[in-house]
Amino acid sequence: MLSNEIREKFLRFFEKRGHRVVPSASLVPTDDPSVLFTTAGMQQFKSHFIGLRNAKDDFGSLNLTSSQKCVRTSDIEEVGDKSHLTFFEMLGNFSFDGYWKKEAIEYAYDLITKEIDLKIDYVSVFGGEGNVPEDTESAEIWRSIDPEITIKKFGRSDNFWGPTGEEGPCGPTTEIYIDGIEIWNIVFNEYYQSQDKTLIPLKTKGVDTGMGLERLVKVVQKTETVFETDLFLPIVQVANSRIVADHIRTSCFMITDGITPSNTGRGYVLRRLLRRAYVKNKEINPIIDAIVNHPSYLGLYAFTPNTKEVVALELEKFQKTLDAGLKRIGKGEDPFILFTSYGLPLEIIEEVTSVDKEKFERQMAEHKEKSGVWKE
Ligand code: ALA
Repeated sequence: MLSNEIREKFLRFFEKRGHRVVPSASLVPTDDPSVLFTTAGMQQFKSHFIGLRNAKDDFGSLNLTSSQKCVRTSDIEEVGDKSHLTFFEMLGNFSFDGYWKKEAIEYAYDLITKEIDLKIDYVSVFGGEGNVPEDTESAEIWRSIDPEITIKKFGRSDNFWGPTGEEGPCGPTTEIYIDGIEIWNIVFNEYYQSQDKTLIPLKTKGVDTGMGLERLVKVVQKTETVFETDLFLPIVQVANSRIVADHIRTSCFMITDGITPSNTGRGYVLRRLLRRAYVKNKEINPIIDAIVNHPSYLGLYAFTPNTKEVVALELEKFQKTLDAGLKRIGKGEDPFILFTSYGLPLEIIEEVTSVDKEKFERQMAEHKEKSGVWKE
């Protein structure tokens, strides 16, 4: 099954079960001002989960489904391994008091085991922590569906999700694991976490689920990593690098959503991604072609026609910076200054001068703390 068939299968499965298909929102959140990027499918529905808006009025249904474009920069150092990416599509189904745990778990089980024919390794449920009780109901539902299933219990750091940004809906989760990776996160939004971290029970309970399309495609196509699937192979083949393929793909989606390279916020993240890719591979245009013409995106995501121009402009400027920075290295400039002020990637700096890694990491941590740009 190809990635676009898998995405379709997910959306149609839920459409047939009374869900309205909602298009992906922009990567620039409109309803969540405290975050840089859209990091989850539920973000465009934050006000629906807390009862400020009504999904029936806005979308014609209390049950929705979508494939949402997401960017998560917190995983950037892991990109290139089996499953981490800076951009991914999150398949999700959502309910705003339309249904609750039984239906949510049964849908997930049926879709995974019957429609897609995958075998679940195990599931996890919330084991209780602080003043949030153990989710015995979800465990019972899993057991009633499959008495043999392995159910693991974890605390707040594993089986409690949200909120995105500084406050918002959140709740205990049940998660499905296949081939050693977490595939599907099913969140039962029961609380509102305020800025001071207090949990306030929500008046109406909601279901929010998220399954990374790229990971799902990996387990369906039984590839070693996400990079050998039909979603990535044509991009990796021209990029000659997993990191370059990931970063240029993320950049294309960001540019299409109106982000341009700059020294702050979203623009800075885009700049870093482009620069990091460029030092590994200077032939960016063929990679952009592979992305914008990808069969899985055709007819679904229309990339902005000026993508190549935005990238070229940035990288021409960067090449000049690079030339200037390389000259500074000879003059003994501090690697951290070369990195932050001249935009020289660490890989390049390390090639030509020795770097005190511990000192650099310390300076970097302080910088991140101050600028906040790598925070979600
Ligand atoms: N909102 C949940 C997540 O992002 C489903 O994992």
